[in-house]
Amino acid sequence: MAKDSFENLIDTAITRRTFLDKTTRFGLAAFVVGGPLALTACSDAELEEILQHSIPTSTDDTISLADEYDWYPLISWGDPMFSQVKEFDENNRAALQNSRFGDNCDGMSLMQIGSKNVLVVNNEYLNIETMFPAGINSLSDIIRAKAAFGVSIVEIEQTSRGWAPVIDGELNRRITMETPMEIRGPARGHPFLRTSKDPLGVKSLGTWSNCGNGETPWGTYLTCEENFNLSFNASDPNFSPNEREKRYSLGFQKDMIDFYKFDDRYDLSKEPNEPNRMGYIVEIDPSDPNSTPIKRTALGRLMHENAELVISKDGYVVVYMGDDEKGEYLYRYVSNDKYIEGDADNNARLLDEGTLYVARFSDANDQLEGRGEWIELTYGKNGLTIENGFASQAEICIKTRMAASIVKGTTMDRPEWVAAHPHKAEVCCALTNNVNRDIAPNAGGDPTPIHGPNPRANNLYGQIVRWHPDNNDHASLEFKWDLFVLAGNPLIHQGEKAGSANVTRKNMFNSPDGLSYDSQGRLWIQTDGVFNNQEDFAGMGNNQMLVADPKSGAISRFMVGPRGAEVTGLTWTPDRKTMFVGIQHPGSKGSDSDFPSGNGKTPRSTVIAIYHKQGHPIG
Ligand code: FEO
Ligand code: CA
Ligand code: CA
Ligand code: CA
Repeated sequence: MAKDSFENLIDTAITRRTFLDKTTRFGLAAFVVGGPLALTACSDAELEEILQHSIPTSTDDTISLADEYDWYPLISWGDPMFSQVKEFDENNRAALQNSRFGDNCDGMSLMQIGSKNVLVVNNEYLNIETMFPAGINSLSDIIRAKAAFGVSIVEIEQTSRGWAPVIDGELNRRITMETPMEIRGPARGHPFLRTSKDPLGVKSLGTWSNCGNGETPWGTYLTCEENFNLSFNASDPNFSPNEREKRYSLGFQKDMIDFYKFDDRYDLSKEPNEPNRMGYIVEIDPSDPNSTPIKRTALGRLMHENAELVISKDGYVVVYMGDDEKGEYLYRYVSNDKYIEGDADNNARLLDEGTLYVARFSDANDQLEGRGEWIELTYGKNGLTIENGFASQAEICIKTRMAASIVKGTTMDRPEWVAAHPHKAEVCCALTNNVNRDIAPNAGGDPTPIHGPNPRANNLYGQIVRWHPDNNDHASLEFKWDLFVLAGNPLIHQGEKAGSANVTRKNMFNSPDGLSYDSQGRLWIQTDGVFNNQEDFAGMGNNQMLVADPKSGAISRFMVGPRGAEVTGLTWTPDRKTMFVGIQHPGSKGSDSDFPSGNGKTPRSTVIAIYHKQGHPIG
């Protein structure tokens, strides 16, 4: 680390300590002592190397990295996955989406299937203005739009020019808004899931708004349905959402695609149960292009961000999940039975039969740390009974937010990705921001006071909460938490808006979102925040990716993305020498971008490859 930057870290830490000592809420001494001042004690040479490469912020329309690293685009929206389509055509951008890489790449995993490397990538939504410059005006536009959402499964291989997609790879597959899915778990067949096309409520069509992801040890991919509500609307001008619809923000969409005008499935006035078939974790088997994806209702219906799956001390499957909405909750699922390597029949049940929990945090000492517990969301327990509107476990799996309200979980600052440490029982969750904190309740009317890991009113910058389960066991009912970082802007603010001691003028950022530990236990942080570089966000530049040392608290800016983009999704090659990173929606909100092609071309969401020029591992 350059001397001036290290001095800056010390300066900031000392300034902050003065502030911290003056307050109660921010007065946790360990937060300063364990912060960046401990950086010099770090002994991991590789970590040192990466943490020395804190790079300046940028507003350039490219990928910015330290000199030792370089990048190239791997695959962009519209690139062919099959040979029956030609290269992306600027003049016919929406053509044949079923055979192309989908739009808005998000969570992703590189999976090894036999000798193949298979990249599985969520395609969260589509950028209407870039895909349909003339707007969406016909049924054929709608059909093409539906094919740009979902998941892209594409084999990749190493070539003389680096990693590249395998056109016509035998495992290549597009999963879209029309792909048949099976519904399993407690909500399967429930009357709320029945529609005129599926009177049994056991099969649905498609997955969309696929945000973060997860993986299972039995080789499947988990895709997480987030803002599904945006695709629904009502043709009846007198439509008035019921309590359940209101809680999932259904019925108020103004800016999304008018699917409902062309397909009754998206019309709340005609098919009110269709949205009840969205908002789940979906399990996909990428080793079989003909397999039917499965909606796992036991894991609850939320605006799911990601699904971080770990195996507990005793072999149970534990899945951590955030609900990304202001004042919503953090969840955990624990399977009834243990994972057994190689036992496909056993493992196929693990995400159907288990217990769902919501997190409740305490901060009895008014410090930025405390205890927490997982509250069971089980029919008949904790007030989840008919008197409170729950007649079965199926209803808890469909109205999960309302169940979490009944048992009084802790309302959170928009839980985004959850990441678990690979070598010990440590978990982090990005709480991206929440301008309603201490100002407005959530959609269910639950108050959102300053509390626990949500310590700032009108939270512009976000924070990362970390917890350690009791007995180092992810299945434990209780945990100890602290805040790994409070993002902020020490350039223009003092006090709580300057962030915690490990935030400096050199590494500042806002709105942590994507989160992943690498094989060495470093924490990578991706941002989806305000990129106007002005006022509260002055000096932060474009969205970025940082790397942190969980032991010392040191955080270093590793990469800056192009204009208008969010940085989201990351995975590594098995040798850890290449890192794949998602660059989502460059050019959004009127920003001036032609990433990645340049020359004034259409900006396109792109998975990029990053590598060290001397071939060192980076994760
Ligand atoms: Fe799709 Fe919460 O981000
Ligand atoms: Ca996200
Ligand atoms: Ca986000
Ligand atoms: Ca996004």
